[in-house]
Formats: sequence, structure tokens, C-alpha cells
Amino acid sequence: MVERSEDLQRFVDAAFIAFDKFAGDPEARRAIPQIFAALGHPGPERGNPGSRLPVCQLLPAALSIETSDPALRQLIECFEGIEGKLAWRRRTAHPTASENFADGHTNAMIIGPGGLEERNDLWLGVTLMAPHVRYPDHEHAPEEVYLVLSEGEFQQGDRDWFSPGIGGSFYNVPQIKHAMRSLDTPLFAFWALRAERQR
Ligand SMILES: [Fe+2]
Repeated sequence: MVERSEDLQRFVDAAFIAFDKFAGDPEARRAIPQIFAALGHPGPERGNPGSRLPVCQLLPAALSIETSDPALRQLIECFEGIEGKLAWRRRTAHPTASENFADGHTNAMIIGPGGLEERNDLWLGVTLMAPHVRYPDHEHAPEEVYLVLSEGEFQQGDRDWFSPGIGGSFYNVPQIKHAMRSLDTPLFAFWALRAERQR
């Protein structure tokens, strides 16, 4: 039986509490227990060291948000415990992204394909963006719950951009086009996806 490292387990526990606390959408409230129940069975953990990109220099600013919420504080603290093991990556550009997108963003898969914990049934990851960066429109088959830890705006389909704010949560139905853009401060958000939607 594969065992999860203590740091990663602490992060998973903190993520469950925070995602569950802030989710309001009924579909998110259904999906979150399913995602974290699946996480009760750990996958194999990558042993090699993490790698950062230049944009990661904004992490300290992104992680120093002003919140007194204990669930968010605990999530940030536990994230700091695993951040050095993560492989921060770029996603390929797309015409809908801003020109500064390539150097102005990074994603890290914490759990999922290519993640610190390798598995295919779900993805738990994080996005960091420098100020004034627009992430490309994208869509995917898995349903998705976001937990936002910064200022920044998001879009679903062709609807108006909205600001979830710190602790904001929203749900993306499978295949919906979505995007995000930062304002004057870094954007920092966690996302959890489940490959197979269950009722
Ligand atoms: Fe997404």
C-alpha cells in the first residue's frame, strides 16, 4: 500500500476543509466530498526535487494575503510545506491569452498527471499569475471546483467576468469554456477536478 508523505497529507486535509467550507454551488458541494474521498487512497509520490519558474518570485506576495480565516490560513501554511517539491510549469499559449502570458503565469499539479502525487482519476493543482495577465480560454471534460485566494477575475462561457475574491469558490461544468485574469496584484487559485463525474 502506497503511503502519502506527512506534508502532502496535511495539505490534502487542509484543502478538504477549505474547499468544503467555501463551496456554495450545489454541484461543488456534491463534487468536493467525492474528490476528497478518492484522495483517501494515495497514489505514488514523485521523489525528485521541485522546480520553479521566474514568476514564482511572486509567491511570497501571493501567499501573504490578509485573511483571518483559519481554514485559509491553514491551507496556505500547508501549501508552503509542499511548494518546494512542486514542478511549476507553463501552459502553451493561445490567441486568447495576453502577450505577457508565457512569462506571467505558472501552474503546478499537486496531485494528478505529472503531479507530486501521480494519478489519473483526479487533479488538484494551483495557478499563479503576475498582475495584468489574461489566461487563455480553455475547457476540459472533468468538472472543476475553484478555490480562489486572491483578487482577480474569472469568466465562464461568454458571461461577464466576476470577482470571487479571497475564499471565493465556483464550479465549472464539464466542457464549459473558462478563463481568468489578474488585476493589480498576483492571482492565486487552487482547482480540483474529477475525471469521472458521479451523481
Ligand atoms: Fe480549468
